[in-house]
Amino acid sequence: MTRASRPRRPFIKDGDASSSSFTLSLPHFLCLSLFVLVSLSVHFSSVQHTRFEKSVKMADGIRFFELNTGAKIPSVGLGTWQSDPGLVGEAVATAIKVGYRHIDCAQIYGNEKEIGLVLKKLFEDGVVKREDLWITSKLWCNDHAPEDVPQALDRTLRDLQLDYIDLYLIHWPVAMKNGSIGFKPENLVQPDIPSTWKAMEALYDSGKARALGVSNFSSKKLADLLEVARIPPSVCQVECHPSWRQTKLREFCKSKGVHLSGYSPLGSPGTTWLKSDVLKNPILVMVAEKLGKTPAQVAIRWGLQMGHSVLPKSTHEPRIKENFDVFDWSIPEDLFAKFSEIEQGRLVKGTSFAHETFGAYRTIEELWDGEI
Ligand SMILES: NC(=O)c1ccc[n+]([C@@H]2O[C@H](COP(=O)([O-])OP(=O)(O)OC[C@H]3O[C@@H](n4cnc5c(N)ncnc54)[C@H](OP(=O)(O)O)[C@@H]3O)[C@@H](O)[C@H]2O)c1
Ligand SMILES: *[C@@H]1O[C@H](CO)[C@@H](O)[C@H](O)[C@H]1NC(C)=O
Ligand SMILES: *[C@@H]1O[C@H](CO)[C@@H](O)[C@H](O)[C@H]1NC(C)=O
Repeated sequence: MTRASRPRRPFIKDGDASSSSFTLSLPHFLCLSLFVLVSLSVHFSSVQHTRFEKSVKMADGIRFFELNTGAKIPSVGLGTWQSDPGLVGEAVATAIKVGYRHIDCAQIYGNEKEIGLVLKKLFEDGVVKREDLWITSKLWCNDHAPEDVPQALDRTLRDLQLDYIDLYLIHWPVAMKNGSIGFKPENLVQPDIPSTWKAMEALYDSGKARALGVSNFSSKKLADLLEVARIPPSVCQVECHPSWRQTKLREFCKSKGVHLSGYSPLGSPGTTWLKSDVLKNPILVMVAEKLGKTPAQVAIRWGLQMGHSVLPKSTHEPRIKENFDVFDWSIPEDLFAKFSEIEQGRLVKGTSFAHETFGAYRTIEELWDGEI
């Protein structure tokens, strides 16, 4: 099946490149990645909430965001990065049973086979239908060559036991040698995003990927892609939480009709090398206490009210439920405004993708085009 490409809006050059800069060093940057998930559109009517995303409706609890394809991405998706084998299947089954309809996967997470087995069982048992689920996956850095892109998606579809994916993302604007494993600098090669994207567009044309997107792209890299794309990206999945709001990228995405999806919405507290304290931020904790909610719930609800989909990961049933209990209440405007006082800093720097000799980026400033 073929879909007509949408008219592109005028290209807007992004100007400033500064943001705040507290920098945590990542000793090892493991594979992060995942998901783009949810974006849903919400409608919302009350006048006093004009500061929130216009398309959000409080009435329906912000369950979906609408993409530029017309598809609706569920606003809260289950993250699966670092969900161990033996635990991830159970987590996915639990999540779907409590109402999640969006699962954020990636080939590099090494757990798509287990997720596929569980999905098959849930479909067979009539717990959920394929068409009611939103499954995202991602193209890893060593599959950027155009001839490798369709093979990579086929592998993911085989592992997930699906015949199409709802959203397929380029995981990083970074390329590695075919078949290479790990983050050794010698594995880095020059990315050619336009030709990788062309191969992604063919997957969209074939119907195997119903929407396309990118992950970990700066505003500049996204702008460069929009210049050459026949099928514009629908989603940009990036780190996003109250301590890293993505102000610049958010505005840019909005102006281009690209949905922002936020990974590590809780600040990835289980990732020890990140030294995250997003959930301990005093403003977040104060708001949570006032509302009688947990800091995790407030961080997730904040994301929905900001207008982006959110991808919290957990392999524990009580937390999976807690993280989804965010639809029948909201953060009132006076407390919502307090979030703008939270000091900003990126957790995931991608340090292993910058090298003085190898690959495309000499420094992390180059990788992020100054947006760190
Ligand atoms: N595109 C990308 O490059 C990229 C990068 C990073 C992440 N992602 C996606 O985003 C997802 C989420 O990001 P993330 O895994 O980095 O971090 P996260 O969702 O911010 O945090 C997950 C951590 O928080 C804990 N947790 C979950 N719910 C909690 C709660 N209610 N209270 C306290 N702690 C809670 C989890 O522990 P338990 O599991 O033990 O409950 C886990 O250690 C990933 O799984 C992945 O799907 C994508
Ligand atoms: C890039 O993607 C990884 C996951 O693949 C994520 O952990 C990291 O936070 C992202 N970095 C930024 C700056 O968005
Ligand atoms: C990458 O490796 C795979 C498997 O060995 C092979 O089929 C494919 O042609 C290779 N791609 C390139 C661009 O060399």
